[in-house]
Amino acid sequence: MGKLKVLPANIANMIAAGEVVQRPASVVKELMENAVDAGADQVDVVVKDAGRTSIQVIDNGVGMSPADAVLCFERHATSKIAEAEDLQRITSYGFRGEALASIAAVAEVSLKTRRAADETATQVSIS
Ligand SMILES: Nc1ncnc2c1ncn2[C@@H]1O[C@H](COP(=O)(O)OP(=O)(O)OP(=O)(O)O)[C@@H](O)[C@H]1O
Ligand SMILES: [Mg+2]
Repeated sequence: MGKLKVLPANIANMIAAGEVVQRPASVVKELMENAVDAGADQVDVVVKDAGRTSIQVIDNGVGMSPADAVLCFERHATSKIAEAEDLQRITSYGFRGEALASIAAVAEVSLKTRRAADETATQVSIS
């Protein structure tokens, strides 16, 4: 019998997460990039205990719909590219659709978002 087996999704996710989140600063970088990609012109970062206790990034970008606020944590969910040709003309910091999935795989995450036209915000919590 062979020795190989395909890793279950949760372990594969954690390994992939390690590529994105090497240290707390990686989380700040990814969330700042998302803020800028969302068109924010103000970004506040609140870090506790060098990022080991909590990292909070608040931006005034376009926000997300309630459905997108859930979908954004799926690996490879991105609004920034749709087809292979798009890879030749990337204009955003992110495009892999991996950052939020990776952060959620290794941290407790709470997302609050609202688009300007929406009356109410959406909160998504993942642990
Ligand atoms: N601060 C934000 N404001 C508005 N939309 C956001 C914000 N952060 C994430 N999103 C949405 O969630 C999607 C997923 O974000 P994520 O960082 O996981 O992937 P990405 O930015 O597309 O690619 P990468 O993994 O390379 O960063 C984004 O494509 C974007 O549509
Ligand atoms: Mg990103």
